[in-house]
Amino acid sequence: MQEAIILVGGKGTRLRPLTNHTPKPLLGVAGSSFIRHQIAKLSDAGVEHVVFATSYLAALFEQEFKDFSEDLEISYAVEEVPLGTGGAIRNAGRLLRGTSADAPVLILNGDILSGVDLRALLERHQARDADVSLHLTRVPDPRAFGLVPTDQAGRVLAFLEKPKTPEECVTDQINAGAYVFRRSVLDAIPADREVSVEQETFPRLVTAGRRVFGHTTDDYWRDLGTPLAFVHGSADLVTGAATSPLVAAPAQALIHPTATVDPTARVTGGSTVGPHAVIGPHALVDRSIVGARVSVAEGARIHESVVDHDSSIGAESCLREVVVGCHAHVGPHNELPAQLRLSCGIRIPAGGVRVSGTAVACPTVH
Ligand code: GDD
Ligand code: MG
Repeated sequence: MQEAIILVGGKGTRLRPLTNHTPKPLLGVAGSSFIRHQIAKLSDAGVEHVVFATSYLAALFEQEFKDFSEDLEISYAVEEVPLGTGGAIRNAGRLLRGTSADAPVLILNGDILSGVDLRALLERHQARDADVSLHLTRVPDPRAFGLVPTDQAGRVLAFLEKPKTPEECVTDQINAGAYVFRRSVLDAIPADREVSVEQETFPRLVTAGRRVFGHTTDDYWRDLGTPLAFVHGSADLVTGAATSPLVAAPAQALIHPTATVDPTARVTGGSTVGPHAVIGPHALVDRSIVGARVSVAEGARIHESVVDHDSSIGAESCLREVVVGCHAHVGPHNELPAQLRLSCGIRIPAGGVRVSGTAVACPTVH
């Protein structure tokens, strides 16, 4: 039986306020929670049992899958206190069914949208008789990731998590967040304290001369941990630039059947519009995620942004690379610039925020 662990215990701080009430893997992308896309991919790769390593808002995972009836069994390893990525793997290992010390266990970070062929990763691991295999990819700027230089044969030479100095940036090849561990290597991770797999386990295994190999591919790959990456990942799934067994056919937009989109509005670039959302006349929603029951008024423009459920965007307002928390209200004629995050429930009055020189007349009596 092929088994897998998914690390889903992080707080998703870079995605706040979306993650205030919802763990990152349960946020909706391309019409399903992200973790459902991952489960479908694991199922396609022949995985029959998955252990979720949960911590932050752990109960919501069990709620999400309470009616799950596919041919894949899910177990929950809950950390009362986060154990770090290595500790989480070790802790989840207790719930694996297999008993063979050599069994290959697939491990995934819970926020990676990737086209990698997981069967190929497993096969290569076995063919090399590896202790650990890491999926690796190349990125233009590796500083936010774990750097993994390898030799000609793919053997890992070092593991440098989030390099601090230019000298440490020895490669553009990074840890892509999907591993195969030999079961006995997983069981050797310390069980009595917090452990980072990136900062402690991988460097130690390499130093100890264990068989740690990289599996480098140029498949589609994105860590969805930041707002812009999150909207881009969702849009890529809708347009078919990234694939998931849960997305049937490429499209310009994914509009829930209960949503209402005015015929003069445009929903483009792989945007999703959630249940009971209303998009008004001449509005534009481009490469964005509009949540359940959101209303977008006439002439509003939303680019590369997330508007969480039960919020409203006023007429002629413009959002670019913005995150709007749930139950927020943006009045008409606002112009919200990149990187702005609106807290849940916040209210911005008409014309309250502008970046161009067209601020509305001063309403205060002096
Ligand atoms: N159960 C549990 N417990 N899960 C955790 C914990 C914990 O204490 N800490 C983090 N996680 C989970 C997160 O939920 C996420 O799914 C995964 O571990 C990785 O954590 P991130 O916070 O997303 O890490 P990152 O993106 O900064 O870096 C990681 O991913 C990069 C690839 O995107 C590292 O693995 C890097 O080496 C890698 O390059
Ligand atoms: Mg991440």
